[in-house]
Amino acid sequence: MKKLALSSSLLLIILLSACGDEAPQRGNTTENGLPQPDIAALYDMKCGICHGREGNLMVGGAPDLTKSVLDLAGRIQLITYGKSTMPPQKDLLTPEQIKDLATYVEKFRTN
Ligand code: HEC
Repeated sequence: MKKLALSSSLLLIILLSACGDEAPQRGNTTENGLPQPDIAALYDMKCGICHGREGNLMVGGAPDLTKSVLDLAGRIQLITYGKSTMPPQKDLLTPEQIKDLATYVEKFRTN
């Protein structure tokens, strides 16, 4: 009997945790404790203001990402440390997120 009560309360815990928070959080939390949004949302939030959702907005001297030929290592470097008006992300994002963003922007390329 005791065993049954234990397993049903275990089931309840599983059910409750499956429902999760009111605000749905996609993915896990990152090292910096922030929820890990999907990478497109992260790009739109952090980068879209200058580069635009399609990569070709070119605000504040931002180059057209559809024409970029910078390699992955170069993009990681640039996003990490910033350059001219492009803000560095090293204290804001994890290396993992930076790499994901550097990979993500390649989808804008038309060349
Ligand atoms: C405040 C505006 C601004 C924001 C925000 C911004 N950038 Fe930039 N970005 C620039 C500017 C300006 C350059 C050109 C830097 C230079 O070479 O002098 C640039 C260059 C780049 C390049 C290199 C393109 C090339 O081939 O030369 C990439 C890739 C890039 N940004 C990605 C991102 C990503 C990813 C984010 C979000 C984390 C981001 N940027 C946020 C302004 C911005």
